[in-house]
Amino acid sequence: MGHLENSIKIDGYHGLKARIRALTEGEADEIALMATVACEVHHSDSRFDWTGFYRVVAPGLLKIGPYQGGHGCLVIPFEKGVCGACARTGEAQLVPDVDAFPGHIACASSTRSELVLPVRNGNGELIAVFDIDSDRPDAFTQEDVRELGAMLNDVFGRLS
Ligand code: SME
Repeated sequence: MGHLENSIKIDGYHGLKARIRALTEGEADEIALMATVACEVHHSDSRFDWTGFYRVVAPGLLKIGPYQGGHGCLVIPFEKGVCGACARTGEAQLVPDVDAFPGHIACASSTRSELVLPVRNGNGELIAVFDIDSDRPDAFTQEDVRELGAMLNDVFGRLS
């Protein structure tokens, strides 16, 4: 049971990516794409308690985008938190224990672990970060990094 609880539901990443591809085919509106991805990913796995985007709206500044879950903070500077670290470095941030991450922003005190991935358009420009929070410690794996990263490239790589 433990193993099942810790893995993506229904038909795995293959199914998730196929659903997102089908739902977003031909769509090039950034917010429509973000809303659809946040919804599909959030409901695909019981590990995920908050799932959503922070958009790059000015140099060094992230602002909340489409999300699922409780309310998220509205503005995150690049210097702050796990989302800021992802935006600053352009690298995925897998944080098994948020209490051990200096500067973590606790939007919900229940969050124990977190994964934040960079979101790039077809020109390779950083347009957002995709943040998933879990109430479980050490909830995320390298497979999540790889599969969700591939899905984000697939969806947002079509934007220029
Ligand atoms: N935990 C994030 C902040 C965003 S929310 O939790 C929705 C961070 O430290 O970047």
